[in-house]
Amino acid sequence: MTQMIVALDVDTIREEEELLERLKGTITFYKIGLQLFTAHGKRAVDLVHRAGNRVFLDLKFCDIPQTVANAVRETQKLGVEAVSLHLSGGADMLRAAAELRPRPKLWGVTVLTSMTAADLHALHPRAGVRSAVRNLARLGLSRGIDGIICSGNEVEPLRKALNLEKSSKQGIASLSHGPRFITPGIRPADNAVHDQKRVITPEKAAELGIDYIVIGRPITAAPDPLKAAQKILGDMKAAAPRAIEKSC
Ligand code: C5P
Repeated sequence: MTQMIVALDVDTIREEEELLERLKGTITFYKIGLQLFTAHGKRAVDLVHRAGNRVFLDLKFCDIPQTVANAVRETQKLGVEAVSLHLSGGADMLRAAAELRPRPKLWGVTVLTSMTAADLHALHPRAGVRSAVRNLARLGLSRGIDGIICSGNEVEPLRKALNLEKSSKQGIASLSHGPRFITPGIRPADNAVHDQKRVITPEKAAELGIDYIVIGRPITAAPDPLKAAQKILGDMKAAAPRAIEKSC
């Protein structure tokens, strides 16, 4: 079942309120990232919760184990459902975060969807994108991480590598348990890709039965965000009728 998370990448609380108001009833899961959280912190999170919505706090933690564990503990106090960290922070960092109880779901960033194979090569001359994603995903899952953030292009190869089964009923991969897949880099075919590089369409994400798509500018920068969100949800439903759930 593919659910949509809308990235609230805006400057002000006023803009956040406007988007929440416009998308009310259609979108119930939102991502608060570095920009909004740095500017407005808990207030930005509370605003989403107040309207009965869910929050993915995308702060992409990457630091020494104790620092990350302490930060994750703070996110629990905010009541968010999921928080992100970089899997490249290493085994000890991941374990320190995963061992906390209670804690939000931990979603691990593999290789940013804004990076190409050449970008990765400049950092790690021997690494390919798929092998890096695979190795990071394996590391994260072995240390208790709940979800893997990668490009939609990498989901199928990753499922194979991790030996995850497809649901026979729907003919799509939709797992009732096991790790969740979260994919940013979602672009409708007629949309600008902006700084994203490894992108797929919302329809493809639905066909693949990806658990959560994270989508920002195609909705938030559209002249009519509600219309844009509804169109994307409609296209996804048409592509994979039984694999869509608005965002609840
Ligand atoms: O506007 P756009 O749809 O590109 O927004 C994608 C969102 O997903 C951004 O907020 C970005 O920070 C986030 N993200 C990403 N790539 C990752 C993890 C998160 O683009 N690997």
